[in-house]
Amino acid sequence: MKKTISTILKLYQENKKISMVTSYDYSTAKAAQEANIDMILVGDSLGMVMLGHENTINVTINEMELFTKAVSKGANESFIVSDMPFLSCGVSVSETVKNAGILIKAGAQAVKIEGANNEILKEIKALTENGIAVMGHLGFTPQYINTFGGFKVQSKTYDKTIKMLENAKKLQEAGVFAIVLEMVPCQSAKYVTQNINIPTIGIGAGVDCSGQVLVIDDMLGRYSNFTPKFAKKYANVYEIMVQAISGYKKDVLNKHFPSENHCFCLNDEELNKLNNKM
Ligand code: KIV
Repeated sequence: MKKTISTILKLYQENKKISMVTSYDYSTAKAAQEANIDMILVGDSLGMVMLGHENTINVTINEMELFTKAVSKGANESFIVSDMPFLSCGVSVSETVKNAGILIKAGAQAVKIEGANNEILKEIKALTENGIAVMGHLGFTPQYINTFGGFKVQSKTYDKTIKMLENAKKLQEAGVFAIVLEMVPCQSAKYVTQNINIPTIGIGAGVDCSGQVLVIDDMLGRYSNFTPKFAKKYANVYEIMVQAISGYKKDVLNKHFPSENHCFCLNDEELNKLNNKM
């Protein structure tokens, strides 16, 4: 059965934890759906783990559209949230509505927007009024990396925690159905979670958020450049890939691949004709 926003909000109301992973391609999304993950995020982290950029700044709306299409084919019963990439929102309401529409038409059921400035709050209102569900994102918001000065834990003081709660309340008021809290102290995330009425989805924000999200490449051990402190590795897929590709190379060199099992053969009659010709 197709998971919807109601599925997610019911989990929250019943005090059950919500699980979310990122996916960017057909097969991984299919596996996430088979594992009965509650939500799939087509995150702009794809800029790093799929496209090899240093951060998420260079990701375009056309790239998000393409990856969202692939994920929605692999996980047509999942609740899919797609990231609005850098400057595809936050500039004007009309641009934001147009860009969010591209992601919804590509197969997402909601979009995610980083930050909570006045322009963004206006845009979130316009999106929800136009039938587009929105997830917020506070704490470390990767699209602001150049103003943060790197990958840094946010909201590390009492004052900043109070500010984060104020922003969470503004997002809730504007109409978001959930908020990602990234790389903030677990006590700050707990405080925000306890003082709003919508789910928080933590990444590096402790166990007291309403749910958790991880970048699938960190979780699978498929991204080899680095693993953030908050990510738990459940497999070492990169190592498995290198081993498998090396095994294939060895087999090619030794003529162990392809074997008879992997070949198509002429029948005897056709083979005889061919042999006689030679
Ligand atoms: O792009 C992404 O993967 C994200 C998660 C880190 C929440 O925004």
